[in-house]
Amino acid sequence: MPTKEKLFCIGQVCWLTPEQTAGKKKPFVYTQGQAVLNRAFFPCFDTPAVKSKYSALIEVPDGFTAVMSATTWEKQGPNKFFFQMCQPIPSYLVALAVGDLVSAEVGPRSRVWAEPCLIQAAKEEYNGVIEEFLATGEKLFGPYVWGRYDLLFMPPSFPFGGMENPCLTFVTPCLLAGDRSLADVIIHEISHSWFGNLVTNANWGEFWLNEGFTMYAQRRISTILFGSAYTCLEAATGRALLRQHMDITGEDHPLNKLRVKIEPGVDPDDTYNETPYEKGFCFVSYLAHLVGDQDKFDNFLKAYVNEFKFQSILADDFLEFYLEYFPELKKKRVDSIPGFEFDKWLNTPGWPPYLPDLSPGDSLMKPAEELAQLWAAEKLDLGAIAAVDISTWKTYQLVYFLDKILQKSPLPSGNVKEMGDTYPKISNARNAELRLRWSQIIIKNDHQQDFKKVQDFLQSQGKQKYTLPLYHAMMSGSEAARLLAKETFSTTAPQLHSNVVNYVKQILESKKKS
Ligand code: BES
Ligand code: ZN
Repeated sequence: MPTKEKLFCIGQVCWLTPEQTAGKKKPFVYTQGQAVLNRAFFPCFDTPAVKSKYSALIEVPDGFTAVMSATTWEKQGPNKFFFQMCQPIPSYLVALAVGDLVSAEVGPRSRVWAEPCLIQAAKEEYNGVIEEFLATGEKLFGPYVWGRYDLLFMPPSFPFGGMENPCLTFVTPCLLAGDRSLADVIIHEISHSWFGNLVTNANWGEFWLNEGFTMYAQRRISTILFGSAYTCLEAATGRALLRQHMDITGEDHPLNKLRVKIEPGVDPDDTYNETPYEKGFCFVSYLAHLVGDQDKFDNFLKAYVNEFKFQSILADDFLEFYLEYFPELKKKRVDSIPGFEFDKWLNTPGWPPYLPDLSPGDSLMKPAEELAQLWAAEKLDLGAIAAVDISTWKTYQLVYFLDKILQKSPLPSGNVKEMGDTYPKISNARNAELRLRWSQIIIKNDHQQDFKKVQDFLQSQGKQKYTLPLYHAMMSGSEAARLLAKETFSTTAPQLHSNVVNYVKQILESKKKS
């Protein structure tokens, strides 16, 4: 990724030089609307409370293709593309990308878009599976109203795992792991087709209505397709991220409420954290638990989508509908059970009062925990370690194992080196989720011999959720780690999305002062 030229964003129209793309041949431009960035792209009521249809005529230079979050895509002559979005959407879901783009079919209503050098990998990763995700979503939550569901693989600096632009999800190329192991991101973005894109939070203080429901929907689809053991393991990883976040910010932090007060002048993106996702997931799971019957709750979610489709709502609208739909729960006053009041869920910061049972994941989590325990010992029992065969472990089981190692770090001296030598599958992984964890372990253990791996990873991609935790870790680490942070940032800053640059700068600055 390194080059001297800066990634240039005016508002959130991001202009990339050829060197900043995967193919390095032609420039690329894309927009990112969420949360309030599209006001710099076109004149609009830039609030999720307002929805409208749109059309656009885009003219591009020779040899470029334009794509948008639109129902129809029509080539008008060699250089013009006409788009129409036939359903009302909020401004933040309008999105455009122009580049050296080609496409390949992966299902009856899906294709992947990517630069030519990535298209084969993109096709192999998703051929045949997208339709299964969509069909399962439709069974659970009702018709998929958007017509097509296509995927666009973005340049490496794209700051998110995925962005649910309707008809055309934008995703990081990190998903191309070669083994379909990161499909949860696609299932997540597909779930937004009902939660977020169809029923939308009316303001960004109610973001959990988008993300908490989407996490719940994602895990329902995942449970049906991959089983509850795998899904609970993935959810445990999510819970660990929430724990980490609350440990860092303090449970009482005002952002650790589901309903957040965003003062005028504050950018909603600056309030972004795990709470709307994972505490939101817990609240929806709690409401399902009150109902006590999964089928009934699934039917309720379908009715909820049908009731509020194409609208923007507040948590109160949802909760009122819930209590009307389940009159016996309303009669029991479930909204005011001491300790679990709906008002407390929404307006009190802190750890969720109810956690869904993840014990179906124990068959996968226990072996990972036991192995982590072995690696944390002062004197390694290499025989016991060798007896555990991790060659069959799925990516998320390895992720869970590495999270446990990270929690126990720093390990006794020498153990991390030994672990890296024992598991090249982890220490030399190409999978981004594994590289993130291994990098975190390297830093927390001040394993300087492998610092280069951290740097390589940060140079290879610019996803915010990978980049910020690593800079936090480096700046909280040794002198050498802080130096690594500064050196790495000086080479990657020109590649990163401007928001990510600002957040990294804040991390580098704040640790300087303290
Ligand atoms: N809509 C979000 C991405 C987003 C949030 C962009 C806020 C801008 C502002 C997207 O659906 C998302 O949550 N992506 C996650 C995927 C993960 C939870 C599976 C990501 O990018 O990591
Ligand atoms: Zn999301």
